[in-house]
Amino acid sequence: MIDHSNIRILISEEAIAQRIQALAVEIAAIQPRKLLVVPILKGSFMFAADLIRAMYRAKLSPDVEFMQLSSYRKATTSSGQVDIVKNIESSVEDRDVLLLDDILESGRTLAYAKDLLSARGAASVLTCVLLEKPHKRAVQIIPDFVGFECPDKFVVGYGMDVAHSLRELPFVGVMV
Ligand code: IMP
Ligand code: MG
Repeated sequence: MIDHSNIRILISEEAIAQRIQALAVEIAAIQPRKLLVVPILKGSFMFAADLIRAMYRAKLSPDVEFMQLSSYRKATTSSGQVDIVKNIESSVEDRDVLLLDDILESGRTLAYAKDLLSARGAASVLTCVLLEKPHKRAVQIIPDFVGFECPDKFVVGYGMDVAHSLRELPFVGVMV
């Protein structure tokens, strides 16, 4: 457990809510077909819960399935490995799939998931991240929808954790 006294708000609840509604409208504008939304657990759960409800207000009716991936960073090498902890059960064939993640950093997690679902025959695999850290990419991936640009700091809250703590914060914060 980590107490909340040394956390500074980086992106407020209000700013997040406003941006998420706009994202849902952007997503609806591309008129996805047979849309399947796939949040990548665990960090995206709060973002996904809010974005999916915003999609309802934007008149979308997606199916929703979850995928859990874990990525390992080896201190000695720059190559990270991604493992599937939980896979989706639905077929993605001929469907437009939208992957959701909390934050795009090296890009390995999202690139891995995108390749996997593309290989299974999705009509398209689009990606949406709440936060994007620029200049941190180890693999080539450009997200289709981005909530906010994120400073090069370790952020917490709104689903994002430090050792499983601080996911409960309703805003995106930094530890000071
Ligand atoms: P990538 O595969 O390097 O793009 O890693 C993305 C994943 O790393 C995210 O889904 C987060 O789980 C985690 N991550 C990266 N940066 C941060 C951060 O600043 N705070 C919390 N988690 C982070
Ligand atoms: Mg994550």
